[in-house]
Amino acid sequence: MKKLLVTGGAGFIGANFVYYLLDNRPDVSIVCVDSLTYAGNMSTLARAMEDSRFTFYRQDIRDRAGIDAIFEAEKPDAVVNFAAETHVDRSIEDPEIFLKTNVLGVQVLMDACRAHGGIRFHQVSTDEVYGDLPLDRPDLLFTESTPLHASSPYSASKAGADLLALAYHRTYGLPVTVSRCSNNYGPYQFPEKLIPLMIANALADKSLPVYGQGLNVRDWLYVEDHCKAIDLILEKGRIGEVYNIGGHNEMRNIDIVKLICQALDKPESLITYVTDRKGHDLRYAIDPAKIHAQLGWTPETAFADGIKKTIRWYLDNRPWWEQIVSGEYKTYYERMYANR
Ligand code: NAD
Ligand code: TYD
Repeated sequence: MKKLLVTGGAGFIGANFVYYLLDNRPDVSIVCVDSLTYAGNMSTLARAMEDSRFTFYRQDIRDRAGIDAIFEAEKPDAVVNFAAETHVDRSIEDPEIFLKTNVLGVQVLMDACRAHGGIRFHQVSTDEVYGDLPLDRPDLLFTESTPLHASSPYSASKAGADLLALAYHRTYGLPVTVSRCSNNYGPYQFPEKLIPLMIANALADKSLPVYGQGLNVRDWLYVEDHCKAIDLILEKGRIGEVYNIGGHNEMRNIDIVKLICQALDKPESLITYVTDRKGHDLRYAIDPAKIHAQLGWTPETAFADGIKKTIRWYLDNRPWWEQIVSGEYKTYYERMYANR
């Protein structure tokens, strides 16, 4: 049995990855490490907690001694790092925790990998490290050799971690891979992000705050397709390499919000155009040719199907997100969107 240490498993993509492995990889056991920030939720992991192949540690990746003790006790075969501060708007408000978790936390994890015999390390990164692309050049896509040009404190912290991970490979020979994925959507996404925020607000007949004119473009990928890509990279990816992961599915924010209104039978008059995000990236678009050619990965879920499944999930799992939007998050929402 192969033992994977998965950090950030109580968050959106980490939890989907945990369930992907439990449901599809009987040869894998999982040690999950998560400090349970506002974005981590134990109710997300309820089913995993009942599985004998799953162990959970509440642990901050910035805490060297705590991380070392887990590596010593569990002796994982590989580490996949999802743990991060992930919301761009929060990084604009207060960058510090982003640098501490997203850069120094990654250093702690990789030092533990080195100290325990050179454990395989996979860094889950984002297409946001490349900065943005113009709206009027649909021919331009991010490839793995596009220069890093991060715009927000969040993306700058992720770019820092990518460089550090590749430097640990070059300098110490640590077996590292990095994946840079486009925007994910699907079950268990925290309702501060575009798609679940719009679903939750629409269901409550609250206004739908679209930044600027809603013309910014993101390349949306169903979360399970991202999980499959990471699993493939762990199995067959070339050490020291970066893999772009993307859905070939570029959409303007306004079109997504209108589609959600339509699917939930809510009026478009709920849409409110609010002050734009500072430094707002115009367009992200990934060229996934390398992972397709080398590992045979391809996005399997069409957006029309993925968004239906996602909306269905939020309708069927109201207690999961209603508990979030009524708690600490409410204060964040009021602060972030008041006078916007
Ligand atoms: P999320 O915010 O939903 O979850 C992050 C998880 O990390 C939470 O469970 C949180 O408790 C945990 N965490 C945060 N700080 C920690 C710390 N110091 N120690 C231990 N645990 C900590 O994030 P997500 O959307 O699931 O993203 C996961 C990863 O994927 C991130 O690294 C992110 O940069 C990357 N990514 C996300 C997207 C996307 O669209 N969501 C796209 C590309 C890449
Ligand atoms: P988000 O889900 O925060 O992801 P990212 O910024 O990492 O791409 O935002 C996706 C897009 O939606 C981005 O262009 C900002 C926009 N957006 C809104 O228009 N309104 C909102 O309330 C939020 C959260 C995002």
